Amino acid sequence: MLYRKIGSSDLEVSEICLGSWLTYGGAIGREQAEACVAKAFEAGINFIDTANAYSGGKAESFLGEVLADRSRDSYVLATKLFFPMTPEDRGLSREQVFKQIDASLARLRMDYVDLYQCHRYDWDTPLTETMEALTEVVRQGKVRYIGFSEWPADKIQEALSLPGVEKFVSSQPQYSLLWRGPELDVIPLCADNGISQIVFSPLSQGVLTGKYKPGLPPPSGSRMTSDAMNEFMVDGRYHDTLLGRVQQLKPVADELGITMAQLALAWVLREPNVAAPIIGATRPEQVKENAAASGVQLDSQTLERIDEILADSVAYKGPES
Ligand SMILES: NC(=O)c1ccc[n+]([C@@H]2O[C@H](COP(=O)([O-])OP(=O)(O)OC[C@H]3O[C@@H](n4cnc5c(N)ncnc54)[C@H](OP(=O)(O)O)[C@@H]3O)[C@@H](O)[C@H]2O)c1
Repeated sequence: MLYRKIGSSDLEVSEICLGSWLTYGGAIGREQAEACVAKAFEAGINFIDTANAYSGGKAESFLGEVLADRSRDSYVLATKLFFPMTPEDRGLSREQVFKQIDASLARLRMDYVDLYQCHRYDWDTPLTETMEALTEVVRQGKVRYIGFSEWPADKIQEALSLPGVEKFVSSQPQYSLLWRGPELDVIPLCADNGISQIVFSPLSQGVLTGKYKPGLPPPSGSRMTSDAMNEFMVDGRYHDTLLGRVQQLKPVADELGITMAQLALAWVLREPNVAAPIIGATRPEQVKENAAASGVQLDSQTLERIDEILADSVAYKGPES
């Protein structure tokens, strides 16, 4: 496993981060979830991403339990706030920043988190209020560094221009072979300002592993077949034309002696502004396979071939102001 620095911070993280949306504390059984976390450490993964809202707080509680026996400096823990915990508890107001960090720390059984991320931009709270509150929780020692997820470029710039407040070190956008919106403005802006990308859905929720075949039902046990996990997979975005093009990546991976999942993760890691793709995993075997993408280099010919295959199945969208 290779390691990269997150932006201008001193956080050294594995090139593969383990995420916990939908899975741990959620739709995946306890034993299997524990096995995935154990496999991650075994593979050299030291970077774990969660959020207060994942499975209504249960993802953080699960991680708090399984990480309790590990030394606090052996991993980098990132969590987030913004999405509703109750109908009243949501957003990035000063009150919510103070309330949600304490609730997250209690569930995680930790004194501090390494990275505290604003899960979305809060259009109902003045940006200065959010940044001042985040700065206070850093100064109180509850948070080491701050980040954001899916903020529009002009709001990132505005936050960076505010005097006397902490600077963001990480950005968490969706980014994959099929979703390249961050290349338009977020990546260049972040690269110039000491902010790294830690990117979500790098496998497009499993689609880029090639297991979903055009014209065939999804394999049993996969995310697409799970009513608890497939909300963002059954909206028509993964149609047969796209799945057919993804299948054409198989010979590319085969020629390199890697799996399609490893090809997709190595492609994300080719971007120097990426610190790590955040993988979801339902089984320890997936963790092991995905972790082995670290260190795989793709040459320019391979990258061109991939672009030709995926053609206009690639979306270039990002959050707008
Ligand atoms: N900031 C945000 O708004 C946001 C949004 C989404 C996610 N995230 C973060 O990003 C993390 C990853 O997101 P994601 O779950 O969408 O990522 P992903 O890595 O694109 O997809 C993960 C899913 O793909 C399947 N998979 C993974 N490796 C595989 C392999 N080698 N072979 C076959 N199938 C494989 C598994 O599902 P099955 O086995 O069930 O098919 C797994 O749960 C989340 O856990 C969360 O931490 C953040």
